[in-house]
Amino acid sequence: MGRPKVYVTHPLFATARAALTTRCDAEYWQGEGRPPRDELLRRIADKDALICLLTERVDDALLESAPQLRIVANVAVGYDNIDLAACTRHKVAATNTPGVLDETTADLAWALMMAVARRLVEADGAARSGTWTGWNLDQFCGADVWGKTLGIIGFGRIGRAVARRALGFKMRVLYADAQRAPADVERALNVEKVEFDALLANADFVTLHVPLTPETRGLISAPQFARMKPSAFLINTSRGPVVDEAALVEALASGKIAGAGLDVYEHEPQISDGLRRPNVVLAPHIASASVETRTRMASIAVDNVIALFDGRRPPTILNPEILG
Ligand code: GLV
Repeated sequence: MGRPKVYVTHPLFATARAALTTRCDAEYWQGEGRPPRDELLRRIADKDALICLLTERVDDALLESAPQLRIVANVAVGYDNIDLAACTRHKVAATNTPGVLDETTADLAWALMMAVARRLVEADGAARSGTWTGWNLDQFCGADVWGKTLGIIGFGRIGRAVARRALGFKMRVLYADAQRAPADVERALNVEKVEFDALLANADFVTLHVPLTPETRGLISAPQFARMKPSAFLINTSRGPVVDEAALVEALASGKIAGAGLDVYEHEPQISDGLRRPNVVLAPHIASASVETRTRMASIAVDNVIALFDGRRPPTILNPEILG
């Protein structure tokens, strides 16, 4: 074939754009925000590849509108926006960007944990607005992070990166996961595997690091909040629908938990009004948003596309069975 045609739903970064141009003819969404769905379907009708973000839904209808499509490269590690079975049925490769964002995401989980525990956003507001009248003994007293119990739900690459940061904070670290981590990992990270309910009951900070799947949707809802300590904080940098947001609002309003640090929401970009409280720190889905990491993510997506058209296995293919 000649030069493959690629549709890209975001301008990407200069290095990724340059690499893509060496091998493919790329067309980019130029408008504000995200491309409307009907526009996207029109644009990909004659394309061989799609590079998209987690905001684009890749399903049967999309795949049917692009009969030549050979690959969908998602610029994200989470791929709940992609119907993988549909891609496989259409013999379209699907790829994500694992491995490069673990540390950056763990940093943000810690930033949220520290910010909410130490009331940093509230305190910043006082300092910034000029309402601060001077040092006082009981001003902005929050909760210690060091020495507390950290509960990590989902102990994959990101969960482990979060645990590694706890080593310097003299914390007890519990994790819950269907799989036990190798003994040397447990030892090196000083972590204990416990049952999900025991983690909820014992952790001072519960942090979520699971992918969104049918099994994890609504994983944290009213019964789970009821098990948590009233002094505990929930941190979510995974996917919004892992938490039942209405139940979270109720848990915060009724004091079932002490606060939350959130990067993701059930119906992004909407954020429930009940979350706009002083004991909640809100970030707009930025866990992987360092220039270094987002640049690497874009480059991995491009590498996957080029590999496929060069007849190589896309390095982070999710459905390798289509390669035959
Ligand atoms: C971001 O949320 C990602 O999944 O990479």
